Amino acid sequence: MQASDLPDLAIQIVDALAEPVLLLDPKGRVQRANAAAHEWFGTWIDGQSYVSVLRQPGLLTPVEDAFFRGTPGHARFSHSSGAVETQFDVTVTPLRDKGARGRVLLVFRDVSGRHDAASMRRDFVANVSHELKTPLTAMRGFIETLLGPARADPAAQERFLGLMAQEVGRMSRLVSDLLVLSRLEGLARQRPTETVDLVLVLGEAVEMLSPGAEVEDVEICVEGPATALVKGDRDQLMQVVSNLIENGVKYGAHPGTVRTRLRHIAREPVLRAPAWALEVTDDGPGVAPEHVPRLTERFYRVDTGRSRAQGGTGLGLSIVKHIVNRHRGRMRIDSEQGEGMTVTVILPEA
Ligand SMILES: Nc1ncnc2c1ncn2[C@@H]1O[C@H](COP(=O)(O)OP(=O)(O)OP(=O)(O)O)[C@@H](O)[C@H]1O
Ligand SMILES: [Mg+2]
Repeated sequence: MQASDLPDLAIQIVDALAEPVLLLDPKGRVQRANAAAHEWFGTWIDGQSYVSVLRQPGLLTPVEDAFFRGTPGHARFSHSSGAVETQFDVTVTPLRDKGARGRVLLVFRDVSGRHDAASMRRDFVANVSHELKTPLTAMRGFIETLLGPARADPAAQERFLGLMAQEVGRMSRLVSDLLVLSRLEGLARQRPTETVDLVLVLGEAVEMLSPGAEVEDVEICVEGPATALVKGDRDQLMQVVSNLIENGVKYGAHPGTVRTRLRHIAREPVLRAPAWALEVTDDGPGVAPEHVPRLTERFYRVDTGRSRAQGGTGLGLSIVKHIVNRHRGRMRIDSEQGEGMTVTVILPEA
């Protein structure tokens, strides 16, 4: 059967759709497949029976129902090529209009992205709940102790109140980091417009963090030019710089050195523009290569116990990544176990 016995309009509509569409003739053969369908299934499908094209029982039943009972239906269809599996939601519609009668239309909608977003949201809520549950459980224990065994023991009371203050501090840091992240998501498409001097931002961050670093016996060194202008949001860039230095101080060697360096790049190949690179290097143990790509995930920590003990929420680097993305910049992490870590942030020059 030829496509030409169908109205031109029907063919044009099928061809114009962006989703993969298959029009089956009354004998169940592919009468028309649009470009997207050819891309997914191959061009061999023209004229083939739907049974050999689809080959998934979950989809065959609704197609049969459409042919033999004239009932519309829905099905899931998964298509895998290599390691990637794509999920489609398929609408099966029997056509009744004169000229198209006896035919069935299949429209495939790619829903794998939606699935990822849904499961990411679920993971996120589970992570947040878990992060809050730990300090809350600790707080409950402290309160019970204060009301019971430590009731008449001022020294123990003081110690427990100190621990409680730490837990409360952790919870408020977590909540404010989450607020920062959600604000950043809202701003993701809005490019910052101020002109910011990275040298000043860096100087301020170092000044702010040096007293704490000194206590930990860590020296912060700065190397770079007299100015480094980028288009940016000053407060956010301050967060980037201080998050990276803070990590260097926390996870680096004690005693040790955190080196920061600003370097000009005449033409950054990916940005295709001149740029500034900020490198923050520590001389700590670094991390094994398998952790590197995951460090910017929310709540990802290599050594959860150690990070928690230092008041970390595991959100620092994911905030950095969001900010860098908003600035249309790039970020890379280089680390080898035992060799320290270097985080490089590249921002387009103003
Ligand atoms: N300089 C570094 N050296 C070794 N490991 C690091 C370094 N920086 C980060 N990490 C690892 O990456 C993890 C994630 O870092 P991130 O800054 O996102 O979270 P955090 O420091 O644990 O908490 P937060 O920054 O929210 O206080 C850390 O828990 C740590 O395991
Ligand atoms: Mg951190």
